[in-house]
Amino acid sequence: MLPLILVGLGLLLALLGHTIFWVGLVNRMHGRAWPEWLLRGLMTGCVALWTLVLGGFLWSALVGYPVEAASVQILPGWFGRLGWLWQVYLVFCWIVAGLNLWAWLWRHLLHRPPNVLLSQHVESIPLSQPVQTHPEHHPLVWLPQNEILQPVLTRREIELPYLPSEWNGLTLLHLSDLHFTGRVAQAWFREVAEFCAQLQPDLVALTGDFLDSMDCLDWLAEVLRPLKGRLGVYFILGNHDWRLDWPRIRAEIAQLGFVSLGGRWIVLSVPASKSALLSAADPAHQPKHQETSILLAGNELPWIGPAADLSSAPRPASQGGPIRLLLAHSPDQLRWAKTHHVDLMLAGHTHGGQIRIPGIGPFLTPSRMGVRYSGGVFHEPPTVMHVCRGLSAEWPLRWNCPPEAALLVLRSPARPS
Ligand SMILES: [Fe+2]
Repeated sequence: MLPLILVGLGLLLALLGHTIFWVGLVNRMHGRAWPEWLLRGLMTGCVALWTLVLGGFLWSALVGYPVEAASVQILPGWFGRLGWLWQVYLVFCWIVAGLNLWAWLWRHLLHRPPNVLLSQHVESIPLSQPVQTHPEHHPLVWLPQNEILQPVLTRREIELPYLPSEWNGLTLLHLSDLHFTGRVAQAWFREVAEFCAQLQPDLVALTGDFLDSMDCLDWLAEVLRPLKGRLGVYFILGNHDWRLDWPRIRAEIAQLGFVSLGGRWIVLSVPASKSALLSAADPAHQPKHQETSILLAGNELPWIGPAADLSSAPRPASQGGPIRLLLAHSPDQLRWAKTHHVDLMLAGHTHGGQIRIPGIGPFLTPSRMGVRYSGGVFHEPPTVMHVCRGLSAEWPLRWNCPPEAALLVLRSPARPS
């Protein structure tokens, strides 16, 4: 017979694997371009199956089983007295739990931040008292420890292996997932946008999920208008926009003078005087030539296609062409970015998991890769990916995962003088 403690541990591990499996299915379903009614139905099905399977197991273990002489004994001791199907499911749950525990160990203890992330600094975005206590906020906002109204600015310095010295010091403001619903008052977003505008970035990138209700269409102009970048403001749409009248949302944002990169690419050429201005901040990186251009592309897959067709684009930066910057809503497009020689990909969609359990991290992220790319900087050559946690959510709930605006400073590799 197995000691009772081993039986207990085995059952706990199985419960963990069982939960991870069904939550993982929900995460992966939400990385696909399925209609909302289907996703909601499947998610309800997953919750029901999690409950039914657990209930069925408990009933079998405590009431129906253990019975003498189970037909097939796969596992030793107490476990071997369960029905063979339960024994197989237990093994499956243990494997799922084991693999995920290893992945967690890798992410939290063994894996170091990528070398391309040179520095990182987080600061609170100061907001006025009337905005924080605005009467139009949804009651959920006031749940204990809910951080939905406490945005932070994350400053990250990122080295791109092929960034020309002309672009050294280029600043990008990356905002994502604003989710205008009316559940967080417009005044809150306006103050955050005004704070971001005073950062005076060279380029602003907005990576989708602007609206959850067409009633908030006017908010686009009212909130986003102050955003300016010396090299422009660029955007793509996300899955929540796709569920609404997305051509109208795109047109409304474009009216602000912002450039849609949905399914297209452009090459941005910068006058030598402007590129000199960019590098002037760092005398160690003086321009070596006057050819200053950057390729900006958009990928709204899997919701709005096709992605930018780069077959006729200038050659990649690794072959002497312009640096390639991609705006994508989902980090799942990293594979696309890598095959298209993208140097820097900006994504959102995952909200950092929205709820992060201390010591464990996020568990709910709408991605085909699970929680792997829930937020931060990732380097999978030739692409560096920055995943922004975003500024809000459809439902105003965030724990241990505050809303985020990101200011990225791009660095070219230091070269021997
Ligand atoms: Fe989102």
